[in-house]
Amino acid sequence: MKVYIKDLEDLYNLAKRFSKCLKGNELILLYGDLSAGKTTFTKALVSSIDKSLEDEVNSPTFTVMNIYETPEFPIYHLDLYRVKEFDISDIVGNGLIIVEWANFQDFSDYDVPKIEIKIEFENTGRIFYVNGNNIENCLKS
Ligand SMILES: Nc1ncnc2c1ncn2[C@@H]1O[C@H](COP(=O)(O)OP(=O)(O)OP(=O)(O)O)[C@@H](O)[C@H]1O
Ligand SMILES: [Mg+2]
Repeated sequence: MKVYIKDLEDLYNLAKRFSKCLKGNELILLYGDLSAGKTTFTKALVSSIDKSLEDEVNSPTFTVMNIYETPEFPIYHLDLYRVKEFDISDIVGNGLIIVEWANFQDFSDYDVPKIEIKIEFENTGRIFYVNGNNIENCLKS
């Protein structure tokens, strides 16, 4: 499904709805060019789950993985831009995993939600292409 986002408020609204569709053990794959908004979406999603974590969310480009602890489950925030691949076998199913630059690794074994972010013409406009039956059905309901 295609979701039009006109500004950061829209983005936070989508993230809030998205967060309500999660149990906390999912793998979410993020795609999109440089500065498309992958980290910003992750920040919005993490803060929708636990507002107190908002300031902790930053780009894991150099650390490869950030871990944010919520009362219910850990959130693993990965960025494959530099490393190109990362073994997630130890963490998969044990928390929420969000992967930026998921195009660098072969995730075809996983039937999981995918989000591609495209920059629109205006400064803050984005198109979010959300793929995944469960998540799409949940977002539509
Ligand atoms: N609707 C929007 N959604 C997401 N980001 C937006 C939006 N409007 C403006 N922005 C801005 O665009 C920039 C996106 O940067 P961000 O670091 O999130 O992108 P990224 O895809 O993670 O980049 P990188 O490729 O470096 O990982 C931020 O400055 C953010 O504030
Ligand atoms: Mg980023």
